[in-house]
Amino acid sequence: MALKQHSDATLRYQQQVDNSRNYVLPFIAREFPDMKGLRVMEIGCGEGGVLTPFLEQGSMCVGVDLWPDRIELAKGFLGDYVASGQLQLIAKNIYDVDFFGEFRHSFDLIILKDAIEHIPDQEKLIAYLKELLSPRGQVYFGFPPWYMPHGGHQQICQSKVLSFLPTSTSCPGRFTADC
Ligand SMILES: C[S@@+](CC[C@H](N)C(=O)[O-])C[C@H]1O[C@@H](n2cnc3c(N)ncnc32)[C@H](O)[C@@H]1O
Repeated sequence: MALKQHSDATLRYQQQVDNSRNYVLPFIAREFPDMKGLRVMEIGCGEGGVLTPFLEQGSMCVGVDLWPDRIELAKGFLGDYVASGQLQLIAKNIYDVDFFGEFRHSFDLIILKDAIEHIPDQEKLIAYLKELLSPRGQVYFGFPPWYMPHGGHQQICQSKVLSFLPTSTSCPGRFTADC
């Protein structure tokens, strides 16, 4: 059964903000207690809500998403941060060669929140991300549970049976530039 947030971008954005404020940011604050000026990239940022609490803390953020419509929505929600230069929003594939020219060894934190399972060529992703990290950089992964039949994506199924299967919450994890 499609949930309300699948058709309501504002609700989706607000859920991203709430999840990030309550879970992602406190988890990352254990490693980076002072986030002012922290250089953060979110890959697969969607509407940009995960980045909002980091922007409020003074981090310098880049949001990247393959889907231009979602980047346009993010610009609507976060236009003031874009105008001030604190946030850059980019509609591109993360594997686009331009990223290495512009962002090589730039980020203290790369976030993939509910995105890793959508990105192809995962066997080359970790080495690729390492090229984007600063020497103290870390990557945060938050993803739907793998050890269940549909990884939380069943709600968008048309089937009256599959779409009602139960789900659970995301699991956090991270690796560092030294890995
Ligand atoms: C499920 S959404 C997650 C959105 C947001 N991070 C959240 O927590 O709600 C996954 C996003 O990853 C994006 N994505 C998938 N492959 C990508 C790629 N190769 N480069 C950039 N973004 C990608 C999709 O367009 C989609 O918006």
